[in-house]
Amino acid sequence: MKTRHLSTFFIFVFGALGGLLFGFDTGIISGASSLIETDFSLNIEQTGFITSSVLIGSSIGALSIGSLSDRFGRKKLLLVASILFLLGSGLSMTAVGFGSMITARIILGFAVGSASALTPAYLAELADAPHRGSLGTMFQLMITLGILLAYVSNLGFLHHNLLGMRDWRWMLGSALIPAAILFVGSLILPESPRFLVEKGKVDEAGNVLHGLRANTNEDPDKELADIQEVANQPKGGLKELFTFARPAVIVAIGLMLLQQLVGINSVIYFLPQVFIKGFGFAEGTAIWISVGIGVVNFVCTVLAYNIMDKFNRRTILLFGSIVMAVSIGVLSILNFTISVKAAAVPTMILIAIYIFGFAVSWGPICWLMIGEIFPLNVRGVGNSIGSAANWIGNFIVSQFFLVLLTTFHNNVGGPFAVFTFFAVVSIFFVIYMVPETRGKSLEEIEMEMRRKAAAKTTDN
Ligand code: GLC
Repeated sequence: MKTRHLSTFFIFVFGALGGLLFGFDTGIISGASSLIETDFSLNIEQTGFITSSVLIGSSIGALSIGSLSDRFGRKKLLLVASILFLLGSGLSMTAVGFGSMITARIILGFAVGSASALTPAYLAELADAPHRGSLGTMFQLMITLGILLAYVSNLGFLHHNLLGMRDWRWMLGSALIPAAILFVGSLILPESPRFLVEKGKVDEAGNVLHGLRANTNEDPDKELADIQEVANQPKGGLKELFTFARPAVIVAIGLMLLQQLVGINSVIYFLPQVFIKGFGFAEGTAIWISVGIGVVNFVCTVLAYNIMDKFNRRTILLFGSIVMAVSIGVLSILNFTISVKAAAVPTMILIAIYIFGFAVSWGPICWLMIGEIFPLNVRGVGNSIGSAANWIGNFIVSQFFLVLLTTFHNNVGGPFAVFTFFAVVSIFFVIYMVPETRGKSLEEIEMEMRRKAAAKTTDN
């Protein structure tokens, strides 16, 4: 195996930058929201809405971008998303009250949702089959890096009103830097060769493929011929999503909902509050705990990047589901059976194990797989449906977590018992529903799906 061209590697890094903004913009608010609450004299519902308005914007952005990307291309829409990122970050940094902050957060959400629907398909379509796992994991790697940077930015700017500007404005404004890098990146990134073939621009697609596969053992001409074969299949338009591609829709929605319902964002967004309310920790200590979680999350995703093409996706998913179910199952039992004081340290350790289980498996693989399982013709829309399911699941967990925590008198065992249930469900979902995609080209995956559907029709 020859080493990958550095420039090709950077294409993937830039292509995945939307993930960094995704992580940053969803993570930053955990530190900023209480400061904004005080500054704008908000009530608790309004503060909650500042967090969740991004998720509403994301669901809308994710849903609306896919069909546009099937029409206009992945690259052009990434550029549009980067402009929205710039706009949303600038507006939230300069917001003057509740209304303008919500407007800014919804615009930001729209950008985050768009990036989450565009990037997985874009990366999968640029990657070569043997490395698609790790290259697709780059998106999740960027998300976790974004979350970590947000925590660090929260910690760094807290109580520092530099140049006469409030700390939270610096926190929110720091997202302008990655947004500007994504903007420049999306001006110079190549268009997806698969999208180009679909639009009849075969020569251009050939050039992109030759560039991307330079210095690898892959044959770009054979790949181009395979893509053309798939692109020449009779097209059923959006109807395909309900006919032969229906299994892909079910897998995408199931994976994405479960990825959220195992409760990851209760930890990512609310962990400081859990430790303050549930275990009586001081605010300063709790922020450090979230930085620790951010580091564990990022480091384990680096591990995922390295193993993703060495093991089957299904095996890794199963491993992750079992680690999560056991760790939070034990966490839940402990918190119901021993004293709050005795439970604090084991809870912290079990949460770290849970994060490890998630970060090596469900974190990256769900985003990776929605880029892989849809047929070319409806890949953009398919990704939209998958990402929207993810944002809706995220919204549900974020809305109900604190309510559940209060219902159980601040005992984390309560909400985590619910998450354990979904972690167990995820084991069965993987066993019975999820197909294996490792090592196959996108074209092989599509042809296999077409063959299965045709065989079913003949059987009937
Ligand atoms: C995945 C989830 C996202 C979560 C992140 C944590 O990307 O989709 O909601 O915040 O993992 O690492």
